[in-house]
Formats: sequence, C-alpha cells, structure tokens
Amino acid sequence: MGIGRAIAMALAKEGVNVIVNYCKHRNEAQETVVKIRRMGCQAIAMRADVSRSHEVKKMVEQTLSKFQTIDILINNAGIGALATIRQVEEKDWNRVMNVNLRGVFHCCKAVVSHMIDRRQGKIVNISSIAGLRGTGSVAYVASKSGIIGITMCLARELIDFGITVNAVAPGLIDTDMARLTEAQKRNIKKEVPIGWIGKPEHVAQSVIFLLENDYTTGQIVNVSGGRLIGI
Ligand SMILES: NC(=O)c1ccc[n+]([C@@H]2O[C@H](COP(=O)([O-])OP(=O)(O)OC[C@H]3O[C@@H](n4cnc5c(N)ncnc54)[C@H](OP(=O)(O)O)[C@@H]3O)[C@@H](O)[C@H]2O)c1
Repeated sequence: MGIGRAIAMALAKEGVNVIVNYCKHRNEAQETVVKIRRMGCQAIAMRADVSRSHEVKKMVEQTLSKFQTIDILINNAGIGALATIRQVEEKDWNRVMNVNLRGVFHCCKAVVSHMIDRRQGKIVNISSIAGLRGTGSVAYVASKSGIIGITMCLARELIDFGITVNAVAPGLIDTDMARLTEAQKRNIKKEVPIGWIGKPEHVAQSVIFLLENDYTTGQIVNVSGGRLIGI
C-alpha cells in the first residue's frame, strides 16, 4: 500500500469524502475508492497528472461540481530519483521537479481561491526527510526542500483566511518507492535509529493530527524513526 491510500483511508475513517487522484494506476485508485465507499463515505477516482496545470484545474472543477466544497488538500503525489549531480540528465531533473514541486504548486493554486472565499481550508504537503537532511538524489532533495519552502510561505500568506498549511516529512516508509535490499534491511539501525521501517499508516496518523489541529500552521512533522536526531 502506498502512502496516498493510507491517507485516503484515514480520512474516510474520520468521515471525509475523498477524491482519489491517480496518474498511471487507475485500478489501484479504484480499489481505494471501493474500500472508502465500504466505510460509508463518498469517493471518486480522478485521473490528473499533477505536473500539468490544466489537468489539475479540471480535476478541481469536477470535484467542486460533485462535492461543492473542498475543505482539505493533501499533496502526496511524488516520484523518486536516484541520480547524483554528475549523473542526472536535465530531462530527469525536470520530470522530478515537475511532479514533486510544480505539482504541489499547481494543486495549491487550483484550490486556494476557493478556500479563501470560504475562509477555511487545510493543506498538508508530503515532503521527505530528504528535504531536511539533504540525503538522496539532488533532484529529489531539491523538490522536497522546495515543498518545505512552499509550506512555510503559504502558511504565512493564508493565515488570515483561516487556512492552515503544514507538511509531513516521512523517513523510510515501506512502499514501492522505498524497497530496501536484504543487506540494507539487516543494517537498518544504521539508517533508522528506531531500528525498523515505518508504515504508510504512520504518515497518515500525522496528516490527521495536522488536520485536526487548528493552531498548527507552517510546521514540518517528521515521521522518520528518529532519522533527524543524529544517532
Ligand atoms: N516511501 C518513502 O519512504 C517516502 C519517504 C519520504 C517521502 N515519501 C513521499 O511520499 C509520497 C508518496 O510516496 P509512496 O512512498 O506512497 O510512493 P508510491 O507508492 O510510488 O506512490 C506515489 C504516488 O504518487 C502518484 N503520482 C506519481 N506521479 C504522479 C503525477 N504526475 N500525477 C499524479 N499523481 C502522481 C502515484 O500515482 P500513480 O500510481 O497513479 O501514478 C502514486 O499514487 C511521495 O511524495 C514520496 O516522495 C515517501
């Protein structure tokens, strides 16, 4: 299970109707929708490549015509990258930045006017511990640091409109994006002080905390098994 599904399920558990955005994997999004509907909430799978502003705008318009309001935006879409500065091709840099960073910009831009009109809204961006520690590939780190910048900037810009903007910075979470080799798993303590890999639900718990807390904005919550405490 990816982090997106865990967040969608956690939202549904709180009684929230959910638009499940996907890009390539329609069936997985549809499975999430079925699970949410079984929990008694409404859910629709919508395809949109977040790196394309017109697709994001269309998704937001369709959401508003279906649900009338958008109270919550979770920016979870992201792709990994492995290349160092010497290896990275410009097209790969652009792809990572377009999905991970520009995607957050497009989605925030598409919903904030609506949230401002309603004087309420909650935005949670999924960054990464890589964006705080600089560990990982240059494009991925830059995109995830950029998300932290967007989070702090928008928290200031939108604070007078009843809108909170926060981020979660996961460490190693057990999804397709972060498959470890057996050797890495054996040496996990070197990577993760707590000694085990997190689950998507750990990220979802922090998202729910940020959504429930009206007094927290502009914050980055680390969900990383102690990776920032420098053991
Ligand atoms: N796993 C970790 O250890 C870890 C750690 C730190 C941060 N994160 C962040 O957590 C988020 C979720 O990652 P994950 O681990 O759950 O990985 P994942 O299973 O690979 O999920 C990535 C998600 O992003 C969506 N996506 C990718 N490109 C997209 C695009 N252009 N437009 C719309 N959606 C797109 C994918 O949808 P489709 O499948 O439909 O393409 C999928 O739902 C990412 O932002 C990632 O950087 C993960």
